[in-house]
Amino acid sequence: MHHPPAIDRERLPALLARMPKAELHIHIEGSLEPEMIFALAQRNGVTLPYASVQALRQAYAFTDLQSFLDIYYAGASVLLTEQDFYDMALAYLERAARDNVVHAEIFFDPQTHTARGVAMGTVITGLERACRDAQARWGLSSALILCFLRHLSEQEAFATLEQAQPYLGRFIGVGLDSSEVGHPPEKFARVFARCRELGLRRVAHAGEEGPPAYIWGALDSLHAERIDHGVQALGDPALVQRLARERIALTVCPLSNLKLRVFPTLATHNLQALLDAGLMATVNSDDPAYFGGYINDNFLQVFAALPQLTSTHAWQLAHNSFAASFVTPAQRSAWQDRLAEAFESCAQA
Ligand code: HPA
Ligand code: ZN
Repeated sequence: MHHPPAIDRERLPALLARMPKAELHIHIEGSLEPEMIFALAQRNGVTLPYASVQALRQAYAFTDLQSFLDIYYAGASVLLTEQDFYDMALAYLERAARDNVVHAEIFFDPQTHTARGVAMGTVITGLERACRDAQARWGLSSALILCFLRHLSEQEAFATLEQAQPYLGRFIGVGLDSSEVGHPPEKFARVFARCRELGLRRVAHAGEEGPPAYIWGALDSLHAERIDHGVQALGDPALVQRLARERIALTVCPLSNLKLRVFPTLATHNLQALLDAGLMATVNSDDPAYFGGYINDNFLQVFAALPQLTSTHAWQLAHNSFAASFVTPAQRSAWQDRLAEAFESCAQA
């Protein structure tokens, strides 16, 4: 693999911001900013249990994954119409374009909406229209990944897949999210097998709070092609070997891990250790409206906290983001060429 020129550490922040990148772990409902939650609540006549934007923001004091999920699902309750899903996604895509994201694979949680009587078609067509407009406006490529909520039953996941059947071809794959511990991947083996038969790509959250066994389960039972988070993998050397050998990407989310106390500080985050172990790590924002930063904030803050990270690591992370994306080989290498050009021009500046 062609390595980029080394770039001084003082110029790293500009490089991190400017380099083209793909975002592979973003929950669109997690991009809903408090201001938009209040605006949509007003537009839709939904009453929120918070008096103001500031009061809502003050509730964002999480202690673990579940304490976040409770507030995240409450925030999503303001989404009712196709236009709501469009507005939410377009706001994210506009913000991502400013961070030089050139491709985003976007998670959505349909069960959070269908449970409130919102139709699957309302969700998907709204999100899809925003994706199309982002391509036209900013040249930003994007695709949708439907996530099953793992705290619900596999039968409910099958019902969700059934509701999504008319929209096959409008999302590229499926994922698994929500409360991890107590809901191992094996619970969803049959529905993921069906998705595989349908030609859908497969990813799963595993090893965020859960043990390495859940990462094994995602690989063996779900045939997951990427692992979302996966930071607990380092506790299991045989698993590290497997992930490295099979080049399974980990979509790491540093600020999420900080806010949900997976690591006590960013300085103790294992991003560099994952890279040094030969794992295909990427950097992503997860739920940027809740965790205090979009993708470039994640890059900037984790590089600031881990002083051993260099421009070569930056290049590796961006290169991995394209390598792990579900696009054609031609598209992937076109973006990787643009990445190399960004490094060359930064080195010459
Ligand atoms: N983990 C699990 N479920 C989620 C997350 C997460 O980080 N974000 C949104 N749903
Ligand atoms: Zn996530």
